[in-house]
Amino acid sequence: MAKWLDNAIFYEIYPQSFKDTNDDGIGDFKGIIEKLDYIKELGCNSIWMNPCFESPFGDAGYDVSDYYKAAPRYGTNEDLKQLFDEIHKRDMHILLDLVPGHTSVEHRWFKESIKAEKNEFSDRYVWTDNIWEEPSGMGCLRGISDRNGCVGVNFFSHQPALNYGFYKPNRPWQQSADEPGPRATLEELKNIMRFWLNMGCDGFRVDMAGSLVKHDEEGKGTIKLWQEIRLFLDTEFPQAAMVSEWGEPDKSLLGGFHMDFLLHFGPSHYNDLFRCENPYFSGKGNGDIGKFVKKYKENYEKTTRKGLICIPSGNHDMERLAKYLHGDELKIAFAFLLTMPGAPFIYYGDEIGMRYVENLTSVEGGYDRTGSRSPMQWDNTKNAGFSKACKEKLYIPLDDGADRPTAEDQMQDENSLFHEIKRLIAVRQAHPVLQSNGEIDFIYAESNTYPLAYLRSSRDEKILILLNPSCSDADFKCTYSLSDKLYSFGGEVTACDGIITVPAGSFGFYKV
Ligand code: NOJ
Repeated sequence: MAKWLDNAIFYEIYPQSFKDTNDDGIGDFKGIIEKLDYIKELGCNSIWMNPCFESPFGDAGYDVSDYYKAAPRYGTNEDLKQLFDEIHKRDMHILLDLVPGHTSVEHRWFKESIKAEKNEFSDRYVWTDNIWEEPSGMGCLRGISDRNGCVGVNFFSHQPALNYGFYKPNRPWQQSADEPGPRATLEELKNIMRFWLNMGCDGFRVDMAGSLVKHDEEGKGTIKLWQEIRLFLDTEFPQAAMVSEWGEPDKSLLGGFHMDFLLHFGPSHYNDLFRCENPYFSGKGNGDIGKFVKKYKENYEKTTRKGLICIPSGNHDMERLAKYLHGDELKIAFAFLLTMPGAPFIYYGDEIGMRYVENLTSVEGGYDRTGSRSPMQWDNTKNAGFSKACKEKLYIPLDDGADRPTAEDQMQDENSLFHEIKRLIAVRQAHPVLQSNGEIDFIYAESNTYPLAYLRSSRDEKILILLNPSCSDADFKCTYSLSDKLYSFGGEVTACDGIITVPAGSFGFYKV
């Protein structure tokens, strides 16, 4: 089992926007290699890179046209292999982004599958057997070829759904997961995974992992499918890590994933904390954490207290954290993110408080996500050090504010967000109980009130985490002694007569 996940701290790289070394305005593998030491300096030891495979980029690469080939704009397969090697040299790991649910309409399989004559790929996608019948519960493409049928789509209209079967087929064209078409799709998925794992990647973040078997309301068919993948990995690649974009850890962990993301959609209440009118971590002081904690606890119990639920600082699909939180609020939010169970994920640029760039025209299917995908701000040279290309050629326009944060400035300032995160990571890495598998108990986490208190514990150690993002001092009844302070920020926490007071805008970690 992927032991390295126990203390993994991930850095998400959106390759388009990270670092361009061939001056075409788009990031590349060589650029990522150049910046590995920066990521390591921050303290992250693992990387998740968004899809980097050949694609027409109608959805930023989530529309793959060849799963076995790196997109030329980032480099060759050899360059990608070199990236893996450079990562491993630094004792780091990398997850590639696997998109099993759909391809691009440009994929060779799809071009074969739209043909009227039956061929090897006729059943690779979800097709009805008649142009007038749409597959229910999903969008579809129809009238695009001589084939008499409609093909289901998984996300955008140019992303036809791969066929893994229906949970309970009830139309003649619906296949069960055991039929040859769905089986062939699954075997091909294993081949794709084999190919990259053999080349040296350390596992996958899996896109829309819960979407594979259709009409599978409780996820049972999809869970079974992933259990088969787990068996295959256990046999051939036992160290490979699997992280799902599913948002329902009770299902994904049962399917054999090591970790699941809490997401900005679905039932998690993640946005109550970071992205809503008055999120919990803003200083407004009336945010709500109650529903989040209730759901988190439910999942935590269902996952047999494994705690392998990843809470990201953000990602390429949601608005930047710095749109809602500022200054010390960001530091307190990171104190939370870096002391929770499961591996933390830091979205590139969030460590310096990069802003959401407003009012951009959509790029590569980004729409309102485009503002979170702008080029990394490295320094104060041309194009913030991202690229030497002319400004007009940049993949997405930069934040053009004169006060935009840069990595260089923040690295020189001990009080910056970068340094706060670096210190928090160092504390986490010095205390296994704060890492992925340490248990969590919420001590004080009430709706519409502060502070937040939770205990991380193992047989060897117990650490009490106290956080108060609000702009008023906040207290609660608690009998723990606070004599052994591990780390704090802002004012000093005090304890008197069984009442602990956490000053406004502060946090503290105590060994108890
Ligand atoms: C989730 C990915 O994170 C998102 O960027 C993409 O557009 C959809 N899945 C479709 O693959």
